[in-house]
Amino acid sequence: MSAVPRFVSIASAWFRIRVGTGSPGDSGGCSLLLIERLFPTLSSPPRLTIPSHHIVIPTPSSSPHPHPPKAGTPSVDITDFHPRLFSLDGRNAIVTGGNTGLGQAFSLALAKAGANVFVASALADDGTTRALVEATGRRMEFLKADLTEPGVPRQVVRGCVEAFGSVDILVNSAGIATLATVEEFGRAEWDPMVAINLTAAFELSHEATSFMIPQRSGKIINIASVFSVLGGRWSPAYAATKHGIAGFTKAYCDELAQYNIQVNALAPGYFATRITEATRTDPESNQRVLDHIPAARWGEAADLMGAVVFLASRASDYINGVVLPVDGGYLVR
Ligand SMILES: NC(=O)c1ccc[n+]([C@@H]2O[C@H](COP(=O)([O-])OP(=O)(O)OC[C@H]3O[C@@H](n4cnc5c(N)ncnc54)[C@H](O)[C@@H]3O)[C@@H](O)[C@H]2O)c1
Repeated sequence: MSAVPRFVSIASAWFRIRVGTGSPGDSGGCSLLLIERLFPTLSSPPRLTIPSHHIVIPTPSSSPHPHPPKAGTPSVDITDFHPRLFSLDGRNAIVTGGNTGLGQAFSLALAKAGANVFVASALADDGTTRALVEATGRRMEFLKADLTEPGVPRQVVRGCVEAFGSVDILVNSAGIATLATVEEFGRAEWDPMVAINLTAAFELSHEATSFMIPQRSGKIINIASVFSVLGGRWSPAYAATKHGIAGFTKAYCDELAQYNIQVNALAPGYFATRITEATRTDPESNQRVLDHIPAARWGEAADLMGAVVFLASRASDYINGVVLPVDGGYLVR
C-alpha cells in the first residue's frame, strides 16, 4: 500500500473488442447483442478479441441453480421499521482473520449484535477474541488454518454449519499486504496475495452460497480497501486484489440478489493494525497519510463495527453490490 496521497481519475476506458466474424446470423451476431447489453451507453459497439464461443449469456432458462428465483422481497411498510432490524439474534457468522486487527472488531461487532461467530485464521488465537465474544453471551468456534490450502474454505463453511446449524453471514477479512518496489515485486510476492486476498474469498463465498441459496438468505461482506479504486505504490498485487474483490462483490451480488443474498464490501481507509505497521512507523509516510485524511486521524478498528453490523443485518436488505468506504474521508481529498 502506498503512503502517498494520490488523485486518480478513472479514465473512460475504450475497449477494442472483436466479435466473431461479425456476419449476421453467425455466433458473432449473437455476441454483438451481448456487447450491446454490456456497453449500452457506447454509441458504437466496441470490438472483442475474445472468441465468441467463449461467451455464455446467462438466461433464466439456462440457470444452473435447481431452485427457482425468489419472486421478490416481501413489501415493507414504513411503520414496520424498528431498530431490531439491526439485530443479528439467531444468526451465525464466519469471519476469516477474525482474531486479529479489523477481523477481531468484526467478530466482536457481530457477536454484540447477536450472532455466533466461527473464526478461521492462519494466526493462532491467544484467547482474547474468544473471551470478548463469549462475554456477549454468544458462541465462538476457532479454526487455525491456511485458507489458501485446497479444501480449507469448504472445511470452514461446513464447520460453521456443523457447529451452529447454518451460515447466515460471511465476512472475508483475511488478507496480507506485502510491500516492495516494482523491481523487487515478483511472483513470490504476487501469488500469495492473490491466493488469500482474492481466491480464498471467492472459494469461501462459493461454498457459503451452497447453503445460502437454499435458505434464501445470506450476507456476504468482503473487505476491500481504498485501493479498490486507487493505485498505490509498492504493492501492485494489493491494488489488483482489492480491485478484484470489488469486482467479485458486484458480480456475485448481481446473481445472488434474486435469492435474498446481499453481497457488499467495506473499503477501509488507513487503519492502525499490524498490516499498516510499516507505514505508521515511518514518520514521513505516517505524516503523508495523516495529511490526506479529512478526519485527521488514522482509523481505529472500532470505526468499522457499526458498518459491518449494518451490512450483516436486515436493515440493509435492499443494499446490493456497494463498496462502502469507511476512510475518514480519504477518498474525497
Ligand atoms: N489495516 C488497514 O488499514 C486496512 C485497510 C484496508 C483494508 N484492510 C483489509 O482488512 C483486512 C484485515 O486486515 P488487518 O488490518 O486486520 O490485518 P491483520 O494482519 O491484523 O489481519 C489479517 C488476518 O488475516 C489472516 N490471514 C492472512 N493470511 C491468511 C491465510 N493464508 N489463511 C488464513 N488466514 C490468513 C491472519 O491470520 C490475520 O488474522 C485485510 O483484508 C486487509 O487488506 C486493512
